[in-house]
Amino acid sequence: MGEDLRARKMTRFKTRSSSFLTWLTGCAAVTMAAGACDLRPAPGFARGELIFDTCAPCHGNDGAGDETLAAPALAGAMDTYLTAQLERFQAGVRGYHYQDTEGLRMRPMSRALITGEGDVESIVEYLMSLPIVDPDATLDTGDAEAGEEDYTLLCASCHGIDGRGVDNVPDAPSLLHLNDWYIASSLRKYRDGVRGASPGDASGTTMRNPMASGWTDERIDDVTAYIMTLQRLPRRIPGPPPEPLPPVDVDPSILPAGVTVAMVQEGQDIFNTATGICYTCHLREGAGGALAPNLTDEVWLNIDGEYESIVLVITNGVPEPVEHPGFMAQRAGMPLTDEQVRAVAAYVYTLSR
Ligand code: HEC
Ligand code: HEC
Ligand code: HEC
Repeated sequence: MGEDLRARKMTRFKTRSSSFLTWLTGCAAVTMAAGACDLRPAPGFARGELIFDTCAPCHGNDGAGDETLAAPALAGAMDTYLTAQLERFQAGVRGYHYQDTEGLRMRPMSRALITGEGDVESIVEYLMSLPIVDPDATLDTGDAEAGEEDYTLLCASCHGIDGRGVDNVPDAPSLLHLNDWYIASSLRKYRDGVRGASPGDASGTTMRNPMASGWTDERIDDVTAYIMTLQRLPRRIPGPPPEPLPPVDVDPSILPAGVTVAMVQEGQDIFNTATGICYTCHLREGAGGALAPNLTDEVWLNIDGEYESIVLVITNGVPEPVEHPGFMAQRAGMPLTDEQVRAVAAYVYTLSR
């Protein structure tokens, strides 16, 4: 862009925005000539505050959400979650399904309003400064008492018994600041595959798994009502992400025919990361938890534990679990290739041996 045109555009801009002058004076002429000047405060709180002016019409001046626009509360959310969701909207992983009316409203916003390097960090820094909101319950349909058992059995292992999330599943957000109308509508979307079902959406699939088994609207309202009764604790500061696992140490002589140490190594990665999301139910290294069995002992519930039976159960999932409250989807709901299934089965095979 020529110097003149740039100057003319700026003059027009100046008349529109008074705070523009402040940015302009902070912007050295040299960098402007080099085309490197973004005309906004450097990445950080001030830039975030400026960007938030464009979010507030929907999400509210205090970030407490606006029901009429279906825009949820942002104040009180965890920084890691906000960053991940903004990047997912921008990439089109969220707001993907044609029936996701609200997501499709947010997705273009994420692209139009968050445009430069450092913008996501800036807006998240600003959002983290907003005091956590304590939204009122607005739905009169749910029965909190009836929702408690579902929450404890099916939600607490990822979102925490107190609703603030757990370090073990870093993708799972705090639920405490959320509006009940948004919780209920999100749960229906996960159930119906309108949210969390775009290709390769690991965190969405992690959440879709517990919802996919045909929840009724009533059950969704009940668990939502229960979440609204949780004590409004302050924001949780997430702990550091778990340490990467050491390379597998396995005696090749115990491996079945056709299985190599390299496959076991690849399987370790699939199992314990977002590639396969197995750890979100079976916990890291297959230790087992409320949602899925321990894979390190000699007890098998659905299979005989031989290699081919492990391949088969991962491929087909477990639609009717023997002991656990939620089911396991085919390939855990993730787009795993046959080779990846064989690799993760090789890893599972070694866990109990
Ligand atoms: C035109 C209205 C509108 C504007 C402007 C808007 N949003 Fe949104 N936003 C929405 C809606 C609607 C949703 C709910 C999507 C859904 O239900 O899945 C949403 C969802 C979100 C979410 C996901 C929250 C969660 O709990 O998962 C984040 C984060 C977000 N918006 C941030 C922003 C930021 C930051 C801006 C400004 C740069 C912004 N939004 C501007 C309408 C808007
Ligand atoms: C295996 C782990 C896991 C379990 C179990 C789980 N969740 Fe989630 N939940 C997640 C993850 C991960 C996300 C983020 C999903 C995404 O990116 O769309 C999430 C997202 C959500 C959201 C959307 C939050 C927002 O701000 O948009 C709600 C609401 C929610 N979960 C409620 C529940 C309820 C209620 C249950 C129990 C019925 C439950 N979750 C069980 C992992 C889990
Ligand atoms: C949504 C939670 C969930 C996820 C994610 C998940 N599983 Fe499972 N898994 C289960 C449940 C539930 C069962 C059946 C337990 C029962 O029958 O009570 C199961 C059973 C198994 C079994 C058979 C265990 C037995 O004793 O019969 C294997 C092997 C297994 N899973 C491996 C995996 C692998 C590998 C992955 C990742 C690709 C994975 N699972 C992801 C919930 C999950």
